Amino acid sequence: MSGVNEIRSTFLNFFKENGHEIVPSSPLVPRNDPTLMFTNAGMVQFKNVFTGVEKRPYQRATTSQKCVRAGGKHNDLDNVGYTARHHTFFEMLGNFSFGDYFKDRAIELAWKLVTKEFGLPKDKLTATVYIDDDEAFNLWKKIAGLPESRIIRIAGSDNFWQMGDTGPCGPCSEIFYDHGDKIWGGPPGSPEADGDRFIEIWNLVFMQFEQLEGGVRNPLPKPSIDTGAGLERVAAVLQGKHDNYDIDLFVALIRAISELTGADPQGPQKASLRVIADHLRASSFLIADGVLPSNEGRGYVLRRIMRRAMRHAQLLGAKDPLMHRLVWALVREMGQAYPELVRAENLIEETLRLEETRFRKTLEKGLSILDEKSRGLKKGDMFDGDTAFTLYDTYGFPLDLTQDALKSRGIGVDQAAFTDAMDRQREKARAAWAGSGDTATENVWFPLREKLGATEFLGYETETAEGVVAALVKDGKEVDSLKPGESGALVLNQTPFYAESGGQVGDTGVMTGEGVRFRVTDTQKKAGDLFVHLGTVEQGTLKPGTALLLQVDHARRTSIRAHHSATHILHEALRQVLGDHIAQRGSLVAPDRLRFDFVHPKPITPEELSRVEDIANEVVLENDEVTTRLMAVDDARDAGARALFGEKYGDEVRVVSMGKSARGHGSNALGWSVELCGGTHVRRTGDIGLISVTGESAVASGVRRIEALTGRHARKHANDAIVLAKTAAAELRTTVEDVPARIAALMEERKKLERDLSDARKKLAMGGGASASSGSSASAAGIREVGNVKLMARSVEGIEMKDLKSLADDGKKQLGSGVVAIVGVTEDGKAGVVVGVTSDLTSRFNAVDLARVASGVLGGKGGGGRPDMAQAGGPDGAKAGAALSAIEKAMAGA
Ligand code: ALA
Repeated sequence: MSGVNEIRSTFLNFFKENGHEIVPSSPLVPRNDPTLMFTNAGMVQFKNVFTGVEKRPYQRATTSQKCVRAGGKHNDLDNVGYTARHHTFFEMLGNFSFGDYFKDRAIELAWKLVTKEFGLPKDKLTATVYIDDDEAFNLWKKIAGLPESRIIRIAGSDNFWQMGDTGPCGPCSEIFYDHGDKIWGGPPGSPEADGDRFIEIWNLVFMQFEQLEGGVRNPLPKPSIDTGAGLERVAAVLQGKHDNYDIDLFVALIRAISELTGADPQGPQKASLRVIADHLRASSFLIADGVLPSNEGRGYVLRRIMRRAMRHAQLLGAKDPLMHRLVWALVREMGQAYPELVRAENLIEETLRLEETRFRKTLEKGLSILDEKSRGLKKGDMFDGDTAFTLYDTYGFPLDLTQDALKSRGIGVDQAAFTDAMDRQREKARAAWAGSGDTATENVWFPLREKLGATEFLGYETETAEGVVAALVKDGKEVDSLKPGESGALVLNQTPFYAESGGQVGDTGVMTGEGVRFRVTDTQKKAGDLFVHLGTVEQGTLKPGTALLLQVDHARRTSIRAHHSATHILHEALRQVLGDHIAQRGSLVAPDRLRFDFVHPKPITPEELSRVEDIANEVVLENDEVTTRLMAVDDARDAGARALFGEKYGDEVRVVSMGKSARGHGSNALGWSVELCGGTHVRRTGDIGLISVTGESAVASGVRRIEALTGRHARKHANDAIVLAKTAAAELRTTVEDVPARIAALMEERKKLERDLSDARKKLAMGGGASASSGSSASAAGIREVGNVKLMARSVEGIEMKDLKSLADDGKKQLGSGVVAIVGVTEDGKAGVVVGVTSDLTSRFNAVDLARVASGVLGGKGGGGRPDMAQAGGPDGAKAGAALSAIEKAMAGA
């Protein structure tokens, strides 16, 4: 008898020895299928390999695939706990040939494994083939030596396998195990086939076609093989059990539950133990693959599974949250085969604990209402749908939980009334929305949000996924199609594109499908959680229902992640350097830069800034893991999470933490930096590469802004600075280190030269070198007598305006008593005039009046100063001589 882990590895190794690549299980959230809620078969990850769209470096593969069948098309949730073989989570063992071997080899390998490796007796085995598949029939006869009576032809869908409405498909052949005549049932195809005696253990699909929309079925490029064997069923057979829940794996999980609750595994509470064991697996694996509980889509399926288990925990009398205390047991049983479980162990525990803590607050009250309202009901009765809705809406009871609670008493739920109540509530919500759109064009989003539900965001886990066009919008109106060259907005059922929020810009990228291509230039959120992709159709025509491969621009998103994580790190580093008053006021996270605004009363000094930068880069170098968890708002605050500006909070928040909590300041149990944030981040801080703070400024009173770059952008910034410094050094013919000293010396030298030059010019001007006024009585020094008053009248060039005044002062000293008039002509032909009057003469001549006279001639206006010193100017420097003459004339007339 072998354990589940041994059976799994025996299967994989057998196929490895037979030339197959062991490929890891793909995530439970399919990336390559637009409509599938969860991965539900081994072939899902190979779908495009079968059709030839995707190439892999191998032609044979084998996997043990994680599968969930809850929600969506295959939904086994309701049966779990009450039957021997239903699971929400199970493992499918499979081998695959992509155009390599076909029927004969597939049957040969399967038979060898089942009879030789697993050692099952031939007389316990029966095979089925598709009704007209003579080839398979004869192969079973030849290879397995089965008598014709145990090769059964089956018509219809039982022996024709289809992935979904579209996709690869083909006839199949199944292997059944006979659990013996103690159990009621008959072979496949017989009237007792529904019984539990003959159990299918392996399905071999002979993949030959691709089912397209509209009923068309095309042959695949090459016939291929897809097989699936439920590991739990195989284990039951090999362990001599009839019931999947009696295999070693489940016995271990159920024992752990029973130890914590005291429930007897074989007692009347058996179903609850099974429900908890099964749901623990589904919840944990979903959380490990990035699904977190929410009220829509995949997150809601997870929530339903979790809450169903939690009600059963309550039935077992568990006083406190139970589920999170079982995770270790699951990790012990399955962690080796699925390392993602080990990696996510903390996240799984926290998410389960949070959900159960919250749900327990309403569970008891809800159950007492349920009891009360169902008290008079008997087997076959219907429970009131309005009450079921109240339980859903107010007490957090998913419909299937209410159904499950009444199931054992044979009572159903009036689903039509439940749906009516739900519709009435939507109607109320719609009325509340009416008119809340900002503009007419914005009004389109609210009805769409209501019709389509929230867009499921896959972008924390993946940058590539498939999605289906749910609606097209152009110029504020919903349209039937978008044609080549048209711009518009696209809403999909799910998307990896991040929509702008919390300062982080929207993603860009490309979406492609059969003959269509849409270029996404921005992604925005409308009506709360509808993701709207803006862009242009480059090829083909887009219509609702079109399936598209969605690809986020990876390089751009990588830079955005780095800038977002760097913003968190800088935030904490600023707090560490400047103090606890730092509060965020806004931020921008773009692919090529980040900026962060915060409250701080004064400019940050260069020393402070460089300390901030040092701390930030130390955290980068520590290369610690960045972790995300979902928490209750209060718990997050207690844990020291910083609230981001402008975000609205529901009851639960996403908390991003990074940096070693042992760093000291600001540290808490979760990490060094802890923020509530819905953005996308790097996996480890080292992915940021480098943080360069490039600027610090004021944005408003008491609000500062820092700007920074990361990674390649930071490196380029630093590099550019180095190149600049080198160029400067080369120009100065010195080394980079000596550039500052060299510039200081040059500046000093320049100041001295300017002083010397100015002195020389003044000397030249006053020493007779300057041209005298054009007056007829000009002497060499330009001094003449006007009446009995001395007038020094000069026109000078190349003297700065500010120096004219000191020239006039010098002139006044030289004259002792008299009037000085100096016109300075600049290089561009404009003129300034300064007039000085010695104090003994100010009663006769006013310097301001004389300056105005000159300015009039120079084409200017006005002038100003005091009676002993005034200045004015004008555009017409050529009239300098005439201006001086006019002063002389004015003095003569005074
Ligand atoms: N894809 C096949 C199945 O899921 C093997 O049964």
